[in-house]
Amino acid sequence: MTTAAHAVEASGIGRYMRESLWAFPIVEAVHIAALALVVGSIVVLDLRLLGLSRRIPVSSLASHVLPWTLGAFLVAATSGLAMFTAHAMDYLTNGVFMLKMGLILAAGVNAGLLHVGAMRAAAAWDVASGIPGRVRVAAGLSIVLWLSVIACGRLLAYT
Ligand code: HEM
Repeated sequence: MTTAAHAVEASGIGRYMRESLWAFPIVEAVHIAALALVVGSIVVLDLRLLGLSRRIPVSSLASHVLPWTLGAFLVAATSGLAMFTAHAMDYLTNGVFMLKMGLILAAGVNAGLLHVGAMRAAAAWDVASGIPGRVRVAAGLSIVLWLSVIACGRLLAYT
Protein backbone atom coordinates (compact mmCIF):
# COMPACT_ATOMS: atom_id res chain seq x y z
CA MET A 1 0.00 0.00 0.00
CA THR A 2 2.78 2.41 1.03
CA THR A 3 4.84 1.50 -2.06
CA ALA A 4 1.81 1.99 -4.32
CA ALA A 5 1.07 5.39 -2.74
CA HIS A 6 4.69 6.50 -3.21
CA ALA A 7 4.59 5.30 -6.85
CA VAL A 8 1.43 7.36 -7.42
CA GLU A 9 3.10 10.45 -5.91
CA ALA A 10 6.22 9.91 -8.05
CA SER A 11 4.20 9.46 -11.27
CA GLY A 12 4.16 12.18 -13.93
CA ILE A 13 0.69 13.37 -12.94
CA GLY A 14 1.53 13.27 -9.23
CA ARG A 15 4.62 15.44 -9.73
CA TYR A 16 2.78 17.80 -12.08
CA MET A 17 -0.11 18.26 -9.62
CA ARG A 18 2.40 18.99 -6.82
CA GLU A 19 4.90 21.17 -8.65
CA SER A 20 2.74 23.24 -11.00
CA LEU A 21 1.57 26.53 -9.49
CA TRP A 22 -1.86 26.38 -11.16
CA ALA A 23 -2.69 22.69 -11.69
CA PHE A 24 -3.98 21.93 -8.18
CA PRO A 25 -6.14 25.08 -7.78
CA ILE A 26 -7.60 24.73 -11.30
CA VAL A 27 -8.43 21.04 -10.79
CA GLU A 28 -9.88 21.88 -7.37
CA ALA A 29 -12.12 24.54 -8.98
CA VAL A 30 -13.33 21.90 -11.49
CA HIS A 31 -13.90 19.52 -8.55
CA ILE A 32 -16.02 22.11 -6.73
CA ALA A 33 -18.12 22.92 -9.84
CA ALA A 34 -18.71 19.20 -10.46
CA LEU A 35 -19.61 18.40 -6.87
CA ALA A 36 -22.05 21.32 -6.79
CA LEU A 37 -23.87 19.67 -9.71
CA VAL A 38 -23.63 16.16 -8.19
CA VAL A 39 -24.98 17.15 -4.78
CA GLY A 40 -27.36 19.85 -6.10
CA SER A 41 -29.04 17.49 -8.56
CA ILE A 42 -29.30 14.69 -5.99
CA VAL A 43 -30.80 16.98 -3.33
CA VAL A 44 -33.40 18.34 -5.81
CA LEU A 45 -34.56 14.76 -6.45
CA ASP A 46 -34.38 13.85 -2.75
CA LEU A 47 -36.60 16.83 -1.85
CA ARG A 48 -39.17 15.56 -4.38
CA LEU A 49 -38.92 12.08 -2.81
CA LEU A 50 -39.53 13.67 0.60
CA GLY A 51 -42.87 14.94 -0.74
CA LEU A 52 -42.21 18.47 -2.05
CA SER A 53 -43.40 19.72 -5.50
CA ARG A 54 -45.80 16.80 -5.90
CA ARG A 55 -47.13 18.05 -9.23
CA ILE A 56 -43.80 17.06 -10.87
CA PRO A 57 -43.76 13.32 -11.73
CA VAL A 58 -40.87 11.59 -9.95
CA SER A 59 -40.00 9.65 -13.13
CA SER A 60 -39.72 12.86 -15.24
CA LEU A 61 -37.58 14.62 -12.65
CA ALA A 62 -35.34 11.56 -12.21
CA SER A 63 -34.81 11.10 -15.95
CA HIS A 64 -33.89 14.78 -16.33
CA VAL A 65 -31.60 14.98 -13.30
CA LEU A 66 -29.78 11.64 -13.07
CA PRO A 67 -27.73 11.83 -16.33
CA TRP A 68 -26.34 15.16 -15.05
CA THR A 69 -25.62 13.57 -11.67
CA LEU A 70 -23.70 10.68 -13.26
CA GLY A 71 -21.77 12.90 -15.70
CA ALA A 72 -20.82 15.36 -12.96
CA PHE A 73 -19.83 12.49 -10.65
CA LEU A 74 -17.37 11.26 -13.29
CA VAL A 75 -15.81 14.75 -13.43
CA ALA A 76 -15.73 15.01 -9.60
CA ALA A 77 -14.12 11.56 -9.27
CA THR A 78 -11.53 12.26 -11.99
CA SER A 79 -10.55 15.66 -10.59
CA GLY A 80 -10.53 14.21 -7.05
CA LEU A 81 -8.22 11.40 -8.17
CA ALA A 82 -5.91 13.91 -9.89
CA MET A 83 -5.60 15.89 -6.62
CA PHE A 84 -5.12 12.63 -4.73
CA THR A 85 -2.02 11.78 -6.81
CA ALA A 86 -0.26 14.92 -5.50
CA HIS A 87 -0.17 13.70 -1.87
CA ALA A 88 -1.42 10.09 -2.00
CA MET A 89 0.37 8.97 1.19
CA ASP A 90 -0.93 11.91 3.25
CA TYR A 91 -4.51 11.34 2.08
CA LEU A 92 -4.42 7.60 2.73
CA THR A 93 -3.31 8.21 6.33
CA ASN A 94 -5.83 11.03 6.83
CA GLY A 95 -8.94 9.88 8.75
CA VAL A 96 -11.08 12.64 7.23
CA PHE A 97 -10.18 11.54 3.67
CA MET A 98 -10.98 7.90 4.49
CA LEU A 99 -14.26 8.99 6.13
CA LYS A 100 -15.12 10.99 2.99
CA MET A 101 -14.51 7.93 0.77
CA GLY A 102 -16.62 5.78 3.12
CA LEU A 103 -19.45 8.33 3.03
CA ILE A 104 -19.35 8.45 -0.80
CA LEU A 105 -19.54 4.64 -0.83
CA ALA A 106 -22.45 4.67 1.64
CA ALA A 107 -24.29 7.33 -0.38
CA GLY A 108 -23.76 5.27 -3.56
CA VAL A 109 -25.07 2.08 -1.91
CA ASN A 110 -28.08 4.01 -0.53
CA ALA A 111 -28.86 5.41 -4.01
CA GLY A 112 -28.31 2.02 -5.67
CA LEU A 113 -30.68 0.25 -3.28
CA LEU A 114 -33.29 2.98 -3.77
CA HIS A 115 -33.11 2.73 -7.56
CA VAL A 116 -33.14 -1.06 -7.90
CA GLY A 117 -35.81 -1.32 -5.19
CA ALA A 118 -38.48 1.26 -4.50
CA MET A 119 -37.94 3.49 -7.56
CA ARG A 120 -38.84 0.58 -9.87
CA ALA A 121 -42.37 0.77 -8.48
CA ALA A 122 -42.42 4.58 -8.73
CA ALA A 123 -45.30 4.50 -11.25
CA ALA A 124 -47.63 3.82 -8.29
CA TRP A 125 -46.67 7.09 -6.54
CA ASP A 126 -45.31 9.14 -9.46
CA VAL A 127 -47.61 12.15 -9.02
CA ALA A 128 -49.45 13.56 -6.04
CA SER A 129 -49.87 10.34 -4.06
CA GLY A 130 -48.15 9.28 -0.84
CA ILE A 131 -44.49 8.35 -1.05
CA PRO A 132 -43.55 5.10 0.74
CA GLY A 133 -41.84 5.60 4.12
CA ARG A 134 -38.71 3.70 3.09
CA VAL A 135 -38.26 6.04 0.09
CA ARG A 136 -38.49 9.09 2.37
CA VAL A 137 -35.96 7.60 4.78
CA ALA A 138 -33.53 6.86 1.90
CA ALA A 139 -33.99 10.42 0.52
CA GLY A 140 -33.36 11.99 3.96
CA LEU A 141 -30.32 9.76 4.50
CA SER A 142 -29.02 10.71 1.05
CA ILE A 143 -29.13 14.43 1.91
CA VAL A 144 -27.33 13.87 5.23
CA LEU A 145 -24.65 11.66 3.60
CA TRP A 146 -23.90 14.07 0.71
CA LEU A 147 -23.73 17.12 3.00
CA SER A 148 -21.33 15.14 5.21
CA VAL A 149 -19.17 14.37 2.13
CA ILE A 150 -18.98 18.12 1.41
CA ALA A 151 -18.06 18.84 5.05
CA CYS A 152 -15.28 16.21 4.97
CA GLY A 153 -13.97 17.56 1.63
CA ARG A 154 -13.76 21.07 3.06
CA LEU A 155 -12.16 19.80 6.29
CA LEU A 156 -9.36 18.14 4.28
CA ALA A 157 -7.70 21.53 3.84
CA TYR A 158 -7.32 21.80 7.64
CA THR A 159 -6.27 18.25 8.57
C1 HEM B 1 -18.97 13.73 -5.64
C2 HEM B 1 -18.43 13.48 -4.51
C3 HEM B 1 -17.47 14.44 -3.87
C4 HEM B 1 -17.75 15.56 -3.12
C5 HEM B 1 -19.14 16.08 -2.75
C6 HEM B 1 -16.48 16.14 -2.74
C7 HEM B 1 -16.33 17.29 -1.97
C8 HEM B 1 -15.15 17.99 -1.83
C9 HEM B 1 -15.01 19.31 -1.24
C10 HEM B 1 -16.14 20.19 -0.68
C11 HEM B 1 -13.68 19.63 -1.27
C12 HEM B 1 -13.04 20.91 -0.74
C13 HEM B 1 -12.90 21.93 -1.82
C14 HEM B 1 -12.41 23.24 -1.24
O1 HEM B 1 -13.04 23.75 -0.34
O2 HEM B 1 -11.38 23.74 -1.68
C15 HEM B 1 -12.98 18.51 -1.87
C16 HEM B 1 -11.62 18.44 -2.05
C17 HEM B 1 -10.96 17.29 -2.41
N1 HEM B 1 -11.53 16.10 -2.84
FE1 HEM B 1 -13.48 15.74 -3.10
N2 HEM B 1 -15.46 15.36 -3.25
C18 HEM B 1 -16.03 14.30 -3.93
C19 HEM B 1 -15.36 13.27 -4.58
C20 HEM B 1 -14.02 13.03 -4.45
C21 HEM B 1 -13.33 11.84 -4.88
C22 HEM B 1 -14.00 10.62 -5.54
C23 HEM B 1 -12.00 12.02 -4.55
C24 HEM B 1 -10.81 11.11 -4.69
C25 HEM B 1 -10.78 9.94 -5.23
C26 HEM B 1 -11.86 13.32 -3.93
C27 HEM B 1 -10.68 13.87 -3.49
C28 HEM B 1 -10.52 15.17 -3.07
C29 HEM B 1 -9.23 15.80 -2.77
C30 HEM B 1 -7.87 15.12 -2.88
C31 HEM B 1 -9.51 17.12 -2.37
C32 HEM B 1 -8.48 18.19 -1.97
C33 HEM B 1 -8.34 18.25 -0.48
C34 HEM B 1 -7.28 19.25 -0.04
O3 HEM B 1 -7.59 20.45 0.05
O4 HEM B 1 -6.16 18.79 0.22
N3 HEM B 1 -13.10 13.91 -3.88
N4 HEM B 1 -13.90 17.52 -2.21
